[in-house]
Amino acid sequence: MATMRILSVNIDHIATLRQARRENFPDPVQAAAFVEAGGADGITVHLRQDQRHINERDVQLLRATIKTELTVEMAIVPKMVRFVQQVKPDQVTLVPEVITEVTTTSGIDVIKERARIKRVINELKKTGIRICIFIEPEPAQIGAAAEIGAQVVELNTDRYSKEIKRREFHLDRLLRAADVATHNGLIVHVGHGLDYLNVVPILERNIAEGFSIGFAIVARGFFVGLKEAVAEMRGLIRGISSATKRSDSIQGDRVEGNKN
Ligand code: PXP
Repeated sequence: MATMRILSVNIDHIATLRQARRENFPDPVQAAAFVEAGGADGITVHLRQDQRHINERDVQLLRATIKTELTVEMAIVPKMVRFVQQVKPDQVTLVPEVITEVTTTSGIDVIKERARIKRVINELKKTGIRICIFIEPEPAQIGAAAEIGAQVVELNTDRYSKEIKRREFHLDRLLRAADVATHNGLIVHVGHGLDYLNVVPILERNIAEGFSIGFAIVARGFFVGLKEAVAEMRGLIRGISSATKRSDSIQGDRVEGNKN
């Protein structure tokens, strides 16, 4: 892949710590400066509807202060659409949101939610925001995402990261999904549950251009400092060249999404 790989660091976890004591520190806005100093290409936050960690003030201040790209993960609801249209992040990543979940675990069902997502995409595109959809690495989902106008897909690596014994199976699934996405004109990102070890096979297989990683970096930051923890991950992402070229086996096999 000729394009440079990028790392966007999810800093929700800094806000989670702040909210554990209902304090005004540690401040994710301050953390963003250390993340950028460590060489990240972007900052990602998930503005949940209940604002349980990141809140509107955080997003507004991040927009005003960071020098790299801002990505806001959000649910497909009108309130969020209105908010991001004002703040204008560089990218919005559409995610499913379940109020009882500890963290996002599955990708959005683009086939089922096609009409709602399309309306949101059309609205957000008026403001020039790049649209990413967080999805399962399934060809039908990818086809549907391309069809309704997404520019980027973030392939969910949650199961890859958890099901260690099925690592090869999940890598093949991710690799095939990435090929389908590329052939549909989409940029491929990966995220969820990635750490300093399990990211390596993904890099070696050249699966993605963008990496959205949070928990592992923030957790390591407690011991080595946030800037250093980011620099280490950045070093891996930029440093490991692909061992396997992405297969071209499915060229011409554009996946048409389910036209419900
Ligand atoms: N991508 C998405 C869509 C997410 O919801 C999250 C978690 O907030 C991440 C990436 C980052 O996952 P992790 O914190 O496990 O690295």
